[in-house]
Amino acid sequence: MRVLLFSGKGGVGKTSVAAATGIRLARMGKKTLVMSVDPAHSLSDSFDLDGDLFHGQTADPFQVSDRLYIQEVNIQKEIKRHWREIASYVVAVLRTTGISDVEAEELAILPGMEELSAMMYVNQYRKDERYDVVILDCAPTAESMRFVSMPTTLDWYMKHVFPFQRTLLKAVRPIANRVSPVELPTDQYFANVKELFGKLEGIGELLEDPRATSVRLVTNPEKMVLRETQRAFVYFSLHGLTVDWVIANRVLPGEVSDHYFSEWRRTQAEILAEMDSYFSPVKVKRAPLFTNEVLGQERLEQLADVLYGDAEDPSRPENLERPYSFQKVNGRYEVRLNLPFASKGDVGLFKKGDELVVEIGSLRRHIGLPTSMAALSPTRARLENRILTVEMKEVAP
Ligand SMILES: Nc1ncnc2c1ncn2[C@@H]1O[C@H](COP(=O)(O)OP(=O)(O)O)[C@@H](O)[C@H]1O
Ligand SMILES: [Mg+2]
Repeated sequence: MRVLLFSGKGGVGKTSVAAATGIRLARMGKKTLVMSVDPAHSLSDSFDLDGDLFHGQTADPFQVSDRLYIQEVNIQKEIKRHWREIASYVVAVLRTTGISDVEAEELAILPGMEELSAMMYVNQYRKDERYDVVILDCAPTAESMRFVSMPTTLDWYMKHVFPFQRTLLKAVRPIANRVSPVELPTDQYFANVKELFGKLEGIGELLEDPRATSVRLVTNPEKMVLRETQRAFVYFSLHGLTVDWVIANRVLPGEVSDHYFSEWRRTQAEILAEMDSYFSPVKVKRAPLFTNEVLGQERLEQLADVLYGDAEDPSRPENLERPYSFQKVNGRYEVRLNLPFASKGDVGLFKKGDELVVEIGSLRRHIGLPTSMAALSPTRARLENRILTVEMKEVAP
């Protein structure tokens, strides 16, 4: 199963591109699911489906045409399906603060629940071999960053916090429940966390395998959007995901000759050239600003045509290089990271436990080191040809 993850700033055209890609793949004979992880779902709108006909049904895969399905992750449904004990614990705690039931239920939607629910589905579909391709139409960049960092964060929580919390609670609950104004989590709560974690098993590897998962960043040829796209690129790379295309959407087409737009045309051309060189060797595909909204299957097909011509298979991975690797060179150990835009001053490195922590600007990633390197510390780093190489050595304590 292939996973294509579309991410980018709000409004750039992620949903349209994801839907168009789905249509193309289904046409090519691949059973395809387009899944929306953006709480502000617009996937069904993009297909211009009749609201009355299918209202509320997209919380599960809904067939829109031959071999093509859409799903819009619905957090209220997901809470009932997967998060019951966790949510009811949060509600119970909030109630003790005097918040009303309705408000407590609203607040019990914790950040990340949507993303985690989507990941559980992806994992399930992979196990069941239900689809050939799953396309993820993500929320704007910040949330999709949360999406990809979730497996590492959870892994860390399950290793470092969860067992400790659980044992601690076993010891204190008999006393604490009598004196504490705040309810302590029950055994069901822990069972629920554990069960959910089990459902996510292997998702980190799936996302980090470039043969399985490709990230496609959708952008517009505007300076502010480009900056965000670059940050997203670094972040995805830092988290081990491979970006294999950048899609510049809403490019003013050549036939727009009106003087009013001449400055727009000039700056767009400049920014497109900048994009090509920044993201190289990753290709920047272009899609024009159409004369109308990209709404309904017919227009989505037009978008697919300009993106993929008549023969290109959008599920084919265009880039199989992992953003980082561990190597042994001349008896020395090295960690290599592809970092196209970072400058030296931006990068921070330190060791924490058996993990290497890499910071780039405000972005941070804990990288679990292979056993052979776990005892080593970073001693030197160099940034050359867009590759950050970190030398790892044994240092006396
Ligand atoms: N190339 C394009 N030309 C014209 N309209 C577009 C184009 N791409 C997207 N749109 C329109 O812009 C709006 C936002 O697009 P959408 O795909 O929902 O963006 P996102 O998912 O990134 O928020 C929609 O109304 C869509 O039809
Ligand atoms: Mg969208």
